[in-house]
Amino acid sequence: MDVRRAVDQDAAAMAGVIAVVAPEDTLGAQPPVDVATRAAGFRDLLAGDGAAWVLEDGGVVQGYLSLTPRTRGVFGLGMAIVAAGRGRGGGRALVEAALAFARAGGAHKVDLEVWPDNARAIALYAATGFVVEGLRDRHYLRADGTLRSSLIMARRLG
Ligand SMILES: CC(C)(COP(=O)(O)OP(=O)(O)OC[C@H]1O[C@@H](n2cnc3c(N)ncnc32)[C@H](O)[C@@H]1OP(=O)(O)O)[C@@H](O)C(=O)NCCC(=O)NCCS
Repeated sequence: MDVRRAVDQDAAAMAGVIAVVAPEDTLGAQPPVDVATRAAGFRDLLAGDGAAWVLEDGGVVQGYLSLTPRTRGVFGLGMAIVAAGRGRGGGRALVEAALAFARAGGAHKVDLEVWPDNARAIALYAATGFVVEGLRDRHYLRADGTLRSSLIMARRLG
């Protein structure tokens, strides 16, 4: 498993990861995922002030992490790894690469939102220094009509 900076040509594979993972209901994205639109979003991110990394196994993209500029000095983190690529340290490697990048660029914080029942992701974030900053109470309207809360977690860098 290798982590490297994502380039424009990775956008479709990154969007493909979202499409594969979304049915698990661990992401904000819900099926059906518009892969072309997601890929275009990643290309825009990479062409602008954002950054992304891919997790590869034998040259095949298994996961990604993106950093999106939020407010000055703050990046928002999004990530997903296909089921077959999990549990082998790839998540931690992606987060550590992103934190090193953000810190080197002078950012003071990386934040994210995670479903409160996503124990695996929360464990990864806690292990890499993220703390809970708050709860968005019944904030997201899901496709089934329910309202879902999210935890706000953040990692201070300075
Ligand atoms: C969350 C996710 C990125 C983590 O990736 P991963 O490859 O499993 O991460 P790692 O192998 O680096 O493990 C990270 C930590 O989680 C722990 N962990 C693994 N499985 C776990 C589980 N079922 N429950 C709780 N913790 C678990 C590991 O012990 C590890 O801790 P350590 O590094 O201190 O040993 C991945 O599971 C995923 O993509 N899930 C679906 C999408 C998702 O939830 N994205 C995040 C949305 S906010």
